[in-house]
Amino acid sequence: MSTKAAAGRKLKTLERVLSKAGIGSRTEARHWISEGRVKLNGRLIRDPDHWVDMDRDKVTFDGKPVRPGAKVYLLLFKPKGYLTTYKDPDKRPTVYDLTKDRKEFLVPVGRLDLDTSGLLLMTNDTQFAERLTNPSYHVPKTYLVKAATLLSEDQLRRLRTGLDLDDGPTRPAHVVRVRDAGRHTFLELTITEGRNRQVRRMLEAIDSRVLKLVRTAIGPIEIAGLETGKYRMLNSSEVEQLLQSARA
Ligand code: URA
Repeated sequence: MSTKAAAGRKLKTLERVLSKAGIGSRTEARHWISEGRVKLNGRLIRDPDHWVDMDRDKVTFDGKPVRPGAKVYLLLFKPKGYLTTYKDPDKRPTVYDLTKDRKEFLVPVGRLDLDTSGLLLMTNDTQFAERLTNPSYHVPKTYLVKAATLLSEDQLRRLRTGLDLDDGPTRPAHVVRVRDAGRHTFLELTITEGRNRQVRRMLEAIDSRVLKLVRTAIGPIEIAGLETGKYRMLNSSEVEQLLQSARA
């Protein structure tokens, strides 16, 4: 079938359906399809270029619907030591171990490092995930940071005004000194970007180090009240509030 015909009938290749759903890259999708983990209307399909009718066909990956009707949004308290990826070659625990009972295929909204705990959103709404992670929407993310040292007012000022990291300057951040305890400063830091290991690199740029990092909020949604390793569903008003924070 030509691509033009495919466009008219809302057809996509199987590989594209999987990668679009945020499950993995196109290369990974091709690999998984050829491994026999993908079914189309209950039938195993090993051809990544097989056409899928987006209005009629049902695709499952590892038995879970890839494009289910209802959109699902959940908030997980990711513990330290869990990866935000789907599968780890070294078999370390992942956030999917904590959401096993969900029958939809969910994607994490952004990433948290292995050693970071706290608020992680997961959804099957890829547009929502894209919007919340797109840096041009400036969604605020708040972290509680335990620094390896006591921090001076000047160091906090540098965090606030912006620092030069190797991938460019950081945007101004909101920084509150929560307390100084012994040889450590505890900070609340709110940033509107989500660059790789950004908070850790920001602390290193002011000659300190992160000892503990917990994401406590995304926009107006907070982790408070949830136990580590547990999740809860977001209600429609919370989803709307998150989208509003991405419009700001
Ligand atoms: N910044 C980091 O350094 N790590 C995270 O996991 C999140 C933000």
